[in-house]
Amino acid sequence: MAGLTLENINKIYPNGFQATYDISLDVEDGEFLVLVGPSGCGKSTALRMIAGLEDISSGKLTIGGRVVNDVEPKDRDIAMVFQNYALYPHMTVADNIGFALKLARLPKTEISERVNKAAAILDLTDQLDRKPGQLSGGQRQRVAMGRAIVRQPSAFLMDEPLSNLDAKLRVAMRAEIAALQHDLGVTTVYVTHDQVEAMTMGDRVAVLNKGYLMQVDTPQDLYDRPDNVFVAGFIGSPSMNLVAGRLEGTPEAPVAVLGAERISIDPLAEGSALREHLNTDLVIGLRPEDLEDVVIAVDAPADRQITATARLVESLGSEIIVHFPMDAPQYIVEDAIDDDAEKGLGKDEETDVYVARLSPRSPVRNGAEITMAVDSSRFHYFDLATGNAIR
Ligand SMILES: Nc1ncnc2c1ncn2[C@@H]1O[C@H](COP(=O)(O)OP(=O)(O)O)[C@@H](O)[C@H]1O
Ligand SMILES: [Mg+2]
Repeated sequence: MAGLTLENINKIYPNGFQATYDISLDVEDGEFLVLVGPSGCGKSTALRMIAGLEDISSGKLTIGGRVVNDVEPKDRDIAMVFQNYALYPHMTVADNIGFALKLARLPKTEISERVNKAAAILDLTDQLDRKPGQLSGGQRQRVAMGRAIVRQPSAFLMDEPLSNLDAKLRVAMRAEIAALQHDLGVTTVYVTHDQVEAMTMGDRVAVLNKGYLMQVDTPQDLYDRPDNVFVAGFIGSPSMNLVAGRLEGTPEAPVAVLGAERISIDPLAEGSALREHLNTDLVIGLRPEDLEDVVIAVDAPADRQITATARLVESLGSEIIVHFPMDAPQYIVEDAIDDDAEKGLGKDEETDVYVARLSPRSPVRNGAEITMAVDSSRFHYFDLATGNAIR
């Protein structure tokens, strides 16, 4: 087993397009690292460079302490699981799983030993003589995993391996893969565009946008302490509300200004970076769950409330999601898909709709006015120019 290290990895495709910029990342031995980001942000490019399927334009890639920039894929001691895990339809499950070992001319007994062991781990023992066509989607996915496992690699690389499965199976399989990885303890880099998948599976999650690594952290730290507006908006569902706002008042009695709403915040401690931002424009982030109907949050201070019209009320049973317009410009984050989207302030009033996640006991009704308590101690603040967190 082995860790992986990426040092200032750049990828410039032959057509001149730069897909990754100075990516530096340490994946520890045995770690499950998830690489997540919007479509087109460079996830597959990064993974394919690790696998050796794509040249590294500049930078250094180390696997198990060995620099492998110029090592052939087959000699890198890694196994890859793809989104399109084409199984050979005419071969049995056992032959599919053992195919790479057969190519490597391992002795027959060794092959069947490894295949049986992998099948036992994957709960495929009873399926070994079947053909892929006779299996369920989940079982086929496990056969694809089996192919990787039998090679006993020092690292697994997985590129959206669940994206062809239906939603329910995907949820079941992500738990299975995470448990399997944990049992095997093999260093794994797992690519997905689905932030929920990333959060539930990864020991740590690396967030990529437009070829840049935005932050690497544990799921909880990414959620609680996003380093920049991109991560703030990308991680979490519904997304964090990002408002182009302002801090006013004094360090002892500061006020967050969200358009027409003025919300008191806790005094700014001596040395707090926020002190430097008093009376300047910045981005204020509010998680939807940090808002609550005042009917429920009865002790909420009057200077920490927002009143708005509930434009759309979605009752999910365990919670109520309320969309409400607020007379404050929304901050729009640029990502890999929206190349044309204008960064910065929302121009269209229709976009200035925010989201709250309320208790299912809230009596909120579609179209009615609602007053919500705001936990302003949980606000996030970002520099308007750089998008970086202010702490
Ligand atoms: N062979 C290539 N030549 C030029 N550009 C490419 C090539 N392959 C991918 N790209 C571009 O690189 C960017 C990242 O692609 P990719 O790594 O596949 O993204 P992701 O896997 O995150 O969706 C995209 O803009 C894509 O169009
Ligand atoms: Mg991809």
